[in-house]
Amino acid sequence: MHWYDILKHLHVTAAGLTALLFTVRLALDATGRPGWRTTPLRWLPHLNDTVLLTAAIGLLVVTGWMPFVHHWLTAKVILLVGYIVAGGYAIKPKFSRPTRITAAVLALIQLALIFWLALNKPVF
Ligand code: HEM
Repeated sequence: MHWYDILKHLHVTAAGLTALLFTVRLALDATGRPGWRTTPLRWLPHLNDTVLLTAAIGLLVVTGWMPFVHHWLTAKVILLVGYIVAGGYAIKPKFSRPTRITAAVLALIQLALIFWLALNKPVF
């Protein structure tokens, strides 16, 4: 298999898992089951994010897509930072419930925009 196919499969699979693992953790917290923090759900998302970003860097190398040159990617990187910040507030129990709910909504909107940009690659 060509490197592009391997990296793209890895990236897309990890992207789907990112969304799944984030929503599962939110749902467990929302239904009063914070015990996931003592299960592999605590570290699995970090491992998955490492795969996602490593494959992303590989894709930049093999495809020639470049942030700050191709602006759908620039927007994707900015939204990724926003998603990481909002996701951090949404997941941490030390923040109030309204803060966590607002952060979760913001994180999910940004994640949806990242998928939309990735799939449509708009030129702007
Ligand atoms: C949460 C973060 C991310 C998600 C959910 C995500 C999701 C996706 C998805 C679903 C695709 C496939 C699009 C298609 O089938 O055409 C894709 C493609 C791509 N992603 Fe990401 N991505 C993320 C982060 C990044 C980052 C940080 C970079 C690099 C700065 C990146 C670089 C790329 C590139 C270059 C492609 C295009 C591959 C191609 O179609 O030739 N991604 N991404």
